[in-house]
Amino acid sequence: MATILILNGPNLNLLGTREPAVYGATTLADVETMCRSAAARAGHAIDFRQSNREGVLIDAIHEAGRGHKAGDVIGVVFNAGAYTHSSVALHDAIKGVEVPVIEVHISNVHAREPFRHHSWLSPVAAGIVVGFGVDGYLLAIDGLVRRAARG
Ligand code: DQA
Repeated sequence: MATILILNGPNLNLLGTREPAVYGATTLADVETMCRSAAARAGHAIDFRQSNREGVLIDAIHEAGRGHKAGDVIGVVFNAGAYTHSSVALHDAIKGVEVPVIEVHISNVHAREPFRHHSWLSPVAAGIVVGFGVDGYLLAIDGLVRRAARG
């Protein structure tokens, strides 16, 4: 059994009460439960994390890179929140390790304010899932599992 890291960036701890018209009523704890079931059905475990701090997210990517090298981690599902649009450091962190990262956004960032249209993560992501609500996490898990099965 391998692990999928589900990594959530700033303000995603507020899911369920934050701008429900944009992000829905599902809480981050609900998302964790959904991800755990989806991964378990595919025979994998998840490591579910959230941080409002860029450095903590960078460290988690580095750790996932080491885990991937050791054969323990198949990939990362990453909703970096607003750091998506600002963080060259997260871009470099993903580029600096070999673990596949799937960028996820609950909302369709391209239908929103122009400052959300650019992503520092997309050029270094293995895949991108945008605008499917919290189901995007499940689509990303499925994508990672299929990718890992292909070898
Ligand atoms: C988000 C979109 C980002 O623009 C925003 O800053 C978030 C959430 C999403 O999941 O739709 O915090 O990543």
